Amino acid sequence: MKLQIAVAVVTTILLLSCSTEKPQAPAAGNFINPNGSSELAVLMNELFAEAETAKQKIALGEKPKWKVDAKKILSAAATEPEKVASPEYKAFAASYIESVKMLKNCSPAEAPQRFKMMATACMNCHNALCPGPRKRIQKLF
Ligand code: HEC
Repeated sequence: MKLQIAVAVVTTILLLSCSTEKPQAPAAGNFINPNGSSELAVLMNELFAEAETAKQKIALGEKPKWKVDAKKILSAAATEPEKVASPEYKAFAASYIESVKMLKNCSPAEAPQRFKMMATACMNCHNALCPGPRKRIQKLF
């Protein structure tokens, strides 16, 4: 009985992770944090928050501060490990990481354009692999 519940919970999380904004189900399994989010989901929320702040700074002509390591999207444990192990995910991740590098190294004049390219790289991966959070990511444009 307990096992059946655990299986149901895990299945629900797997089904919800990319189709809803925030899976709230309690977690089972060591790849998921006690708050119900995977390491990758937590990282994604950090990237989103940092990008929102950066967008405001850039609009003011200021240089954004970057703390979150974008490269971690290649190693953080995901709700659906097989999805992030795919060649598609790795290709989208590489292009996103490149866009972050270009944004960090650009002049203030180039920053608005580079920021859009980065947000597009977020969106490209989500269009292909994880449509749920697209509405939130749209706010970065
Ligand atoms: C290479 C693919 C890829 C890229 C690039 C990417 N994401 Fe994600 N994102 C995912 C996947 C897969 C998940 C599901 C994570 C999980 O549940 O383990 C996710 C989840 C999310 C979530 C939901 C987190 C939650 O609480 O469930 C948000 C918000 C998000 N991403 C925003 C972003 C933003 C903003 C960027 C760019 C700064 C970005 N993503 C770049 C693949 C990507």
